[in-house]
This record gives sequence, C-alpha cells and structure tokens, in this order.
Amino acid sequence: MPRPKTKRRYQSPELHALPAGPLERPPAAARRTSVLSTLAGHDVRELVARFGSPLCVVDETRLRDAYRRMDAAFRARWPDTHIGCSVKTNYLSAVVAVLRSEGAWGEVVSGFEYRLCRDLGIPGNEILFNGPYKTDEDLELAFREGAKVHIDSDDELERVIALSRSFETPREIGLRCSIQLNYPPWDKFGFGLETGHALEAARAIAREPKLRLAGLHAHVGTYLPDPGTYARSIESLIGFALRLERELDLRIGHLDVGGGYATRNTLHHTMLPGEALAASAEDYAEAITAPLRKAARQFRSPPRLFLEPGRFLVDEAVSMITTVRAVKRGSGQQKAALVDCGVHILPTAFWYDHEIRPVEDRGGALESYRMVGPLCMQIDCVRQNLVLPSLRSGDLLVIQDVGAYNFSQSMQFIYMRPTYVMAHAAGVDVIRERESDAYVREPERLPAHLVSDETRHSLLVRGR
Ligand SMILES: Cc1ncc(COP(=O)(O)O)c(C=O)c1O
Repeated sequence: MPRPKTKRRYQSPELHALPAGPLERPPAAARRTSVLSTLAGHDVRELVARFGSPLCVVDETRLRDAYRRMDAAFRARWPDTHIGCSVKTNYLSAVVAVLRSEGAWGEVVSGFEYRLCRDLGIPGNEILFNGPYKTDEDLELAFREGAKVHIDSDDELERVIALSRSFETPREIGLRCSIQLNYPPWDKFGFGLETGHALEAARAIAREPKLRLAGLHAHVGTYLPDPGTYARSIESLIGFALRLERELDLRIGHLDVGGGYATRNTLHHTMLPGEALAASAEDYAEAITAPLRKAARQFRSPPRLFLEPGRFLVDEAVSMITTVRAVKRGSGQQKAALVDCGVHILPTAFWYDHEIRPVEDRGGALESYRMVGPLCMQIDCVRQNLVLPSLRSGDLLVIQDVGAYNFSQSMQFIYMRPTYVMAHAAGVDVIRERESDAYVREPERLPAHLVSDETRHSLLVRGR
C-alpha cells in the first residue's frame, strides 16, 4: 500500500527538566549513610570488646517480630495457616528455637535438619520434609513419626512405594509440583503441573493401598518480590487439587506454597533498592489467601495452608560487625577498604549489595570504597562500591540484613568462622563459639608412614 504523503517537517526533540520529585538526586548531606552504633540496644563497640571482630549478632526481638507479623497477616485471612520455618536458611539452633517458641513448624531438606528440629523439641508431625533427595533411612523415620513428606521425583516415589509395603496402616504423602512462573525456569524440583507429570504421579499414588495423597507443595523460586507470583502459584495448586478430589476421589488436606518472600536486601545490578521493591507480609498474605477464600467451598473441606519462609523471617534480624583492617589505594580513583569479614562468612555478598553502615561518623569527606575481605583471593569482595565518610584502620562497620544463607552456606577458608551471639533485652548470649584450629583439624588423621619424630606431638597424631 502506498504510504500517505505527509507535509509535517521533522522537529528535533527538546529536553525538559523533570519536576522535583522522587527522581531528584538528594543533597550530599542526605546521601551520608547514617551511623548505626547499637544493635538490639547493645553498644557495638562494647560487643566487639567482649566477643571480638568479626561478630555476627542475631537480634532476638526482630526475629520474633518478623514471625509474629507474618503469622498474624496470614491467620487473619486464612486461620488454618501454619508456618514451617526453612531450616536451611539459617540452621543456628538458637534461631530455630526462637521461631519454634513462637509456634513455627520446621521445614527441612535433609536428615541433618530433621534431627536438628527433633532435638529442639519439634515433633515429627510438625515437620515438612522437602528436598530433591531423601535417604531411605530419613524417609523411614519421617513416615514413622508422621512428618509431611513431599515427594520430588518418580524414583523417590518408587522408593516410597517399596517402603509403604511395610506400613501397617496407610500413610499420607504430599506431591511437590513444578509450576513454571519465572524465568529462568525453576524446574529442578517436583512433578510438572503443566506437563501432566503431576497428574500421572497422583494416579500412581492412588493405586497404592498404603499411601494417601493428602497434600500439594510448590516452591516457585526464591527472593520473589511480586506477590502476584504467589497468587498464580496457589491458583494452579487449587485447580489441580480440585481436579484430584473430583477425579480420584481424594481429600487434599493441605496446600503448601513454599518460601521465597523477598526482604529489603538489594540484588546486584537492579535499578531500585530492595526496600522499594519489597512487599509486606500483608501483601503476600492477601495474594495467597484471596484465591483460597474464593475456592474454599469447592473443597471437600477447606485445606490447611503451609508457608515455608526462610529469608523473610531471618534476614533482617541479623547483622555482621566488621573492622576495617587497612585502607588501600586501588588501581583507579576508588580506594579499597579491607575488612575482616570475607565472602567465606558472607556468601550473599556475591548477589546482594548489602547495606553497610559506619558505627561512628567523624565528619570526614565522603569517599568511594570497594569493600574487600581478608581472604587471599581477588573475588573476596563484600561491596563493589560504597560511599562512606572517610575510613581508617580500626573503624567499625555494620553489615545489615545478613541472616539468610550466610551461616548455613559459610565455610572455613583461611579464617575460622567467628562468634555468633544472640542479643536480647536481658543481655547477649553466645550461640556459636568462634571456631578454633582444633575444631577444623580434629577430623583429620595422619597415615602412620607420615608420622615422624617431628609430627609425633602434633594435634594430628593425638590419641595414637
Ligand atoms: C522448598 C523450599 N522451601 C522454602 C525455602 C526458603 O526460601 P526463602 O529463604 O527464599 O524463603 C526454600 C529455599 O530455596 C526451599 O527450597
């Protein structure tokens, strides 16, 4: 088709200043990071004098508050809600014990975590057992104690079917469903809902005399700031559950929407700070429970709702105190501040721009620093770029919101793990001792032909 002729002449674009508002750059004084000199009411300098640096501090009150807020937000909208705290997110016993004292169930993905929950008094029937691989021994114990086991694969289902032959009475099991709501796909776990794999598995379970399919589980990703993702996840689970109740004459007693609720931490390379993206407990609760309330009457009886928050409960309750040990010239304009907290105890530095605040501001000029750790590796970088009042060796800094995945994914590398304390109104308790050389070397053994006079008295040949 011939293009209509137009007589309009080209006009060059004009630039207009944006009106003052949220995009306006704040004045320099407002960009000065405010100091943080106390944690849970305790003076940071005194904490370091008592327990050393680096020091990891769990604020018990904040931990309880995070749990209570989430619990209240969901129960107000769907009273039969239970929170299973994701143990792998932070398996310090004191942390799990605090959450348990608030009423949390345990969500575990290994025998180690299962036993940890049992040791802390969580009965088996208040444990949600997930994960792509559970050993035969772990499965047997979990079924014996009435845990909610979510099956992850055909091979695991086969093993459970074999195990079920020894059950005296039928046992309930759950199915982990894989729902594709994200990119890249979160598809390592469970049975595809869209592909029909989950329906095949449900039919296979229905044929088994000693198994009852009683629950559906989905965990569609981690750090998901959009509550809409959860609305879509639970809608899929509801649709599938109703189909199973109808077609296979089942009663689906629980739906579990997993974890992933984001915190105010900021991912690398994002435009907006995490604080601006983060949804509230109430936002998540409304997104998840509204579809449930709508569908409630279609179920044989309204299902129990399980959540498995990890980072949402623990991230913001934990801080790491670190000391500047050297200030170095970098290769360009930016200086490097070498701190005593490295990525071995702060692996989340690989994906978050953690908030780092000075304990004291002497009023010096603002400077741009690369915060590097003490490890003898170039990749040991805690923050690529941070503007702080000028630093010098000995200054204390607080790295905020480090409760999720840092302890459980930490490693002893070059330096030992530091002391972990829990701070509360009545004082401060050590919840994990600083590691010693002996702790690291104790499991080692020196083969006899390597034992010489020089080694005879070493720790390695102790007890021979
Ligand atoms: C099955 C399951 N539930 C809960 C969680 C906790 O996730 P988050 O810490 O993002 O809340 C995870 C973590 O990946 C998980 O795999």
